[in-house]
Amino acid sequence: MRILVTDPIDDAGLETLREAGHEVEIAYGIDGGADLVDALEGVHGLIVRSGTEVTRQVLDSADELMIVGRAGIGVDNIDIDAATEHGVIVANAPQGNVRAAAEHTVAMTFAAARSIPQAHTRLKAGDWAKSDFLGTEVNNKTLGIVGLGRVGQEVAKRLNNLGMELVAYDPYISEDRAEQIGADLVEFEACIERADFVTVHTPLTPETEDLISHEELALLEGGYLINCARGGVVDEAALAEAVAEGTLKGAAIDVFAEEPISPDNPLLDVEDVIVTPHLGASTEAAQENVATSTAEQVLAAFNEEPVLNA
Ligand code: NAD
Ligand code: MLT
Repeated sequence: MRILVTDPIDDAGLETLREAGHEVEIAYGIDGGADLVDALEGVHGLIVRSGTEVTRQVLDSADELMIVGRAGIGVDNIDIDAATEHGVIVANAPQGNVRAAAEHTVAMTFAAARSIPQAHTRLKAGDWAKSDFLGTEVNNKTLGIVGLGRVGQEVAKRLNNLGMELVAYDPYISEDRAEQIGADLVEFEACIERADFVTVHTPLTPETEDLISHEELALLEGGYLINCARGGVVDEAALAEAVAEGTLKGAAIDVFAEEPISPDNPLLDVEDVIVTPHLGASTEAAQENVATSTAEQVLAAFNEEPVLNA
């Protein structure tokens, strides 16, 4: 079988496929659309991360394609309806990078609360700006978790252990589950209003697009917003304005509506919005995990075995 890999994945996944006797072609950074359509001719398996848009147009012409493997969690870059219509399996790797994403969220929370990137930049420029940075402790503060799924729960555990109270909004989980985690499951507005820090962990869907905008940011007055889930869930222009005007103390953002980020993105101009280039899953362990599990699922599809999305 022929497998095309269009976003960088760990060698462990590539080796798993090659050792099983398949032909693996690498096309990192390929332009979507026509180039991807051409590259998919005669290809049976496609492996992507978040950098490749697998659109209806692409799926309409990929006659031999059996499976799209997403080496990670979010499948918002894949047209699932079109894949289903064409009988193409879409398999993600929902477990392997959860801890990495949770750890990055915790790191971003502290980076924002203590202005670490801003102080680092000043000091590297020779400026001992000790009196310019007065941080916020997370101890005894309230964390509002929007989306209490796998990553949200891991973040909850870690920050609870560091002294934070937990409130959560997630219309799809039970009160019992939230209680087990130690979170008070509340309505959306209450979650934001009660929080000192809000962290977003939903997928990007029509329901979550711009979920957090002007009104919600006003409810978080004096607090911090963290988004290591998906760009598009938070209205970027509204967030830039809220931090620039001092409604929020700061924000930490790993994911953007347009990636790679446009130089015109207003978040880049605001000192107290700290940013990373979609690094949530970028640890050695997470990349090895998701690459291996994606490769195993591609092999399962080729062997007509169950694809477990594990
Ligand atoms: P998950 O499916 O386990 O959890 C998502 C949760 O969001 C679910 O509990 C669901 O009920 C909830 N949800 C759905 N719609 C909602 C809504 N309208 N309001 C509130 N809650 C809602 O997913 P996960 O593994 O926890 O991943 C969470 C997000 O993090 C995804 O968007 C994923 O793509 C992203 N992610 C990003 C990185 C990164 O590199 N930055 C790494 C891993 C995951
Ligand atoms: C994910 O949804 O798993 C993340 O976006 C991680 C990634 O693939 O970069």
